[in-house]
Amino acid sequence: MQTVYYPAMRIKKAVFPAAGFGTRFLPATKAIPKEMLPLVDKPLIQYSVEEAKASGLEDIIIVTGMGKTAIEDHFDTSFELEILLEERGKIDLLSLMQDVSNMVHFSYTRQKKPLGLGHAIGITKNLINDEPFAVFLGDDIIDSKVPAMRQMIDVYDRFGGSVLAVQKVAKTQTHLYGIIKGERVGPRVYRVLDLVEKPKAAPPSDMAIIGRYILTPEIFGALDATKPGKGGEIQLTDALKILLKKQAIYACEFEGTRYDAGDKLGFLQANIAFALKRPDMRNDLKRFLKGLKL
Ligand code: UTP
Repeated sequence: MQTVYYPAMRIKKAVFPAAGFGTRFLPATKAIPKEMLPLVDKPLIQYSVEEAKASGLEDIIIVTGMGKTAIEDHFDTSFELEILLEERGKIDLLSLMQDVSNMVHFSYTRQKKPLGLGHAIGITKNLINDEPFAVFLGDDIIDSKVPAMRQMIDVYDRFGGSVLAVQKVAKTQTHLYGIIKGERVGPRVYRVLDLVEKPKAAPPSDMAIIGRYILTPEIFGALDATKPGKGGEIQLTDALKILLKKQAIYACEFEGTRYDAGDKLGFLQANIAFALKRPDMRNDLKRFLKGLKL
């Protein structure tokens, strides 16, 4: 197995697969994309876009699907709203709105059928141009001092190859994740020896794959070779297993707190945790929570 280096290739592009139907949040997600559900007062997807920007990424490619136009509108300029805010003297809000649309360069591609996460990444091949790239699953909100993707890029710069974000999970939770078998090669860095998707029994470790990836362009060949799995979907984990036969893959145990905001309980926990960090809300929210006398 060989480690592939792309020495002159700084990671600039980030793919955001956002074409899933978000069934766990129905009926809320019937007409509103899951990515636009508010975490305190910002849509979920904006948190990972901000993480991408803070990690030095420049080009964001969002994979959308049916009913997802609100995402494009959100990151676009809204002249009418800007004029209204200016007329009303709401300058703080105006600059907040402009920050969103000027964040980074956005492009959009459409997945015609939700044929799985692997398929959503596969259709970005022509936009990626044979270079390593980042992938963000916006459901995973990571609160950290150093942006999680920045921590992963540092691993990529040192080791090369693809890099997966991993986090220790409770033994009772391993069946919900892709689990790696790894060999420690540095502080919080593992070389991946094997990957198992949602192991029913005997998980190879307690290290679960979280929704951040750095992928070498060879992933596209691996995705082409991946047969549809459960529900006719092309699974990214299956493609990573094919890639692992040819190239080294590393795992970065990032520092930070991760919330699974694609799940109702995780979404509520993230809302409470982020609101408690807000000086304008903290004290009132604390008082409310204490008053619940649980
Ligand atoms: P999920 O497994 O969380 O599916 O997809 P989902 O549709 O978003 O949500 P639930 O489980 O039905 O509630 C993981 C990521 O892959 C994207 C999703 O948008 C999400 O970011 N995805 C999934 C696609 O872009 N296309 C697909 O065909 C499937």
